[in-house]
Amino acid sequence: KRVILSGIQPTGIPHLGNYLGALSNWVKLQKSAKPNDVLLFSIVGWHALTLPQDPSTLRSARDDMLAVILSIGIEPTRSILFHQDHNPHHAELCWILNCITPMGKLRRMTTWKSRLAASRNAGSEDEIDESLLNAGLLTYPVLQAADVLVYRATHVPVGEDQRQHIELTRDLADIFNRTFKGDKKSRLFPLPIYVDTPSKRVLSLRDPSSKMSKSSPDTASRILLTDTASQIKAKIRSAVTDSTQGITYDPVSRPGASNLLTILAACTDSDVTAVAKLYETKGHAELKNDVADAVEELLKGPRAEFEKIRHEKAFLDDVARQGASRAMQHSEATMREVRTRLGLA
Ligand code: TYM
Repeated sequence: KRVILSGIQPTGIPHLGNYLGALSNWVKLQKSAKPNDVLLFSIVGWHALTLPQDPSTLRSARDDMLAVILSIGIEPTRSILFHQDHNPHHAELCWILNCITPMGKLRRMTTWKSRLAASRNAGSEDEIDESLLNAGLLTYPVLQAADVLVYRATHVPVGEDQRQHIELTRDLADIFNRTFKGDKKSRLFPLPIYVDTPSKRVLSLRDPSSKMSKSSPDTASRILLTDTASQIKAKIRSAVTDSTQGITYDPVSRPGASNLLTILAACTDSDVTAVAKLYETKGHAELKNDVADAVEELLKGPRAEFEKIRHEKAFLDDVARQGASRAMQHSEATMREVRTRLGLA
């Protein structure tokens, strides 16, 4: 039996990177799941709080995210779709894991190091770098580990930027298993497997040296799942490529064009080297046209569905309520065993 779990932060409409790196894989896994596989997809509001959030914006972003996930084809009758913050077991296990997590491991997380670097760039002295950052940013991956382990998940479909967090999750599972063997002398947590896609790292359209992200100030750097056909066209057309004749797939020296090929291959479910071959003698303009068409083809269905269900508030609330209650049935069994092993029962 597989237990598949993933999560996404409710920080605005997801972009094409979120979709091609993770969300589309959720749908694929749902389609190929065996009847006794368990699928859990979580909107992780507590993770979002590590950065300042305006309460009313967060409130509507939570509904946006639920509606987007439904509109791409996650079926609440098959998958358990829920808000992380509706299940307190995540926070309970997070605290317990905090108490077995070596600080050094957290300080080595690249997400933490990039926060530190950003605060250093803000002009502060080395020593006060950390004091400007909240503790949630440091312990963020422990909460993520709790999200996964509280369901004893075996597979975690995410983009490449989350790989290190899954490795930490495996480490923490292993530490717990070895430290708290229980009466049955058994290992409580499976070590979860990181599951990626060929498009595990979609790049910014404006700066192909960095990944497509929600936080870039340049809105032309990302395509949102709700963008219209003309917005998609304009953003792809303004994508940064290079001035070399012809198209080749060469992520190191031609990251911009290669990113477009990756996107095209992912949208059409084909192999990137095969796609590249088709464009060998063609120009960037033609590639961009075809990418824009393929992205529009991919997004038009979900976009229409989103417009339909986004304002069905009672329906969305109902999905969230049922999802939380089903999620808690699964996590309760884990937490009972965790408490027993720790001497907290
Ligand atoms: P988040 O909300 O930043 O992103 C959601 C998913 O999108 C993937 N992703 C990308 N994939 C390819 N190219 C990109 N440019 C790109 N940008 C984002 C991310 O890898 C992710 O899979 N910490 C997580 C959320 C989380 C989680 C979890 C995930 C919390 N608990 C438990 C799995 C299991 C995050 O911030 O994702």
